[in-house]
Amino acid sequence: MSYTYDFFKESADYVLGKIDYKPEVGLILGSALGTIVDEIENQVVIDFESIPNFLKSTVKAMAGQLILGDLNGKKVACMNGRFHFYEGYSFEQLVIPIRLFKLLGVKTTVLTNAAGGINYDYKPGDVMIIKDHIKFMGASPLRGENIPEFGPRFFDVGTMYTPRLRELAKECAKETTINMHEGNYYFWSGPQFETPAEINAIRMLGGDAVGMSTVTESITAAHCGMDLLAMSLITNNCGDMTDEPTTPEEVGEMGTKVAPQMKKLVRTIVGKL
Ligand code: HPA
Repeated sequence: MSYTYDFFKESADYVLGKIDYKPEVGLILGSALGTIVDEIENQVVIDFESIPNFLKSTVKAMAGQLILGDLNGKKVACMNGRFHFYEGYSFEQLVIPIRLFKLLGVKTTVLTNAAGGINYDYKPGDVMIIKDHIKFMGASPLRGENIPEFGPRFFDVGTMYTPRLRELAKECAKETTINMHEGNYYFWSGPQFETPAEINAIRMLGGDAVGMSTVTESITAAHCGMDLLAMSLITNNCGDMTDEPTTPEEVGEMGTKVAPQMKKLVRTIVGKL
């Protein structure tokens, strides 16, 4: 299905009706990283369910709220919870959050997620700045009629993960205990985790970490010309790196464990945008 510009504008007008400013930074926080919202001051909280034409979160660990307010001196719009292909949404539907950000006035988006480590140098608890991604599964979220108000039909994605912001994230990580890497995120449609053979294949293709989110948001941000930073918390090792099964519990536990450092990192980065 194809959406119209007015479809997106209706959501944005509803949100803008509840605040008297335009947020300049957009944040989407992945599994168990939602505690960053505690840092936001002067909060206006809007349930996803109440936003016209918005999507509804089906993942229990995720809160399903849009939080507007101040973070380290910046006006932010923060999605606590996100939408995934494995929940049943089409790739085309997954443009909705970033297009809302765009129409709210957001210039820079920061994304976080939980991911499995594939690079042999990565350990659970490390963080990877996404330098680039590989999405060989399924269609583009920009498939269908183009909406020129957002961006052109065909567009470059060579530096969609803004190099300046990647450098900033590396600098800011020095003020934390985080062991930071930079690498390629491999999009996995899920909901099953990967087989060991699939992990070997992903490694051969150049993936350093694997996860089930983020890329649709990144592609949508690139289309509408936003600056973008995306970071993966490595919650577990994959395939031949471990004998343990991957579980959502360990993903959640690692998220909780590293949350204080992630919080500090995101806060510092936002302050310097
Ligand atoms: N694979 C895919 N997604 C994930 C993983 C994983 O191992 N860990 C956290 N999210």
